[in-house]
Amino acid sequence: MALYSDKVMDHFRNPRNVGVMEDADGVGEVGNAVCGDIMKIYLKIREGIVTDVKFETFGCGSAIASSSMATELIKGKPLSEVLQLTNRAVTEALDGLPAHKLHCSVLAEEAIRAAVKDYYDRHGIAYDPKDFPDEGSCPHCHE
Ligand code: FES
Repeated sequence: MALYSDKVMDHFRNPRNVGVMEDADGVGEVGNAVCGDIMKIYLKIREGIVTDVKFETFGCGSAIASSSMATELIKGKPLSEVLQLTNRAVTEALDGLPAHKLHCSVLAEEAIRAAVKDYYDRHGIAYDPKDFPDEGSCPHCHE
């Protein structure tokens, strides 16, 4: 069996929603302490819905594929659903990642969460701090 699924290869070779958004409503940037890779997510939000999303990932192929799939999964979704997105859902949508690459998908989950928090902070919107655990405390990431 190939190491990477067809979906991973597709999103790696043709990533969706790549780029910078100058007028983003929320921006999240996170880094992986182990490998040094960085992911940045830009959100356009209207009436609580993610109407557009862009990403920049300076990282491995799995991180790029995870970012691409994650942006597809949250586009058009209300923030309440966006905050439910887990790296597991991203991985499943990609038909899996090798075990030693699972941590790459955690970056996407964390970057999206950070972008939503940035949106809330910029607009003075109250939120439950439990929705935004400190970086590095992600229960999915053990690397
Ligand atoms: Fe760093 Fe994949 S090896 S995010």
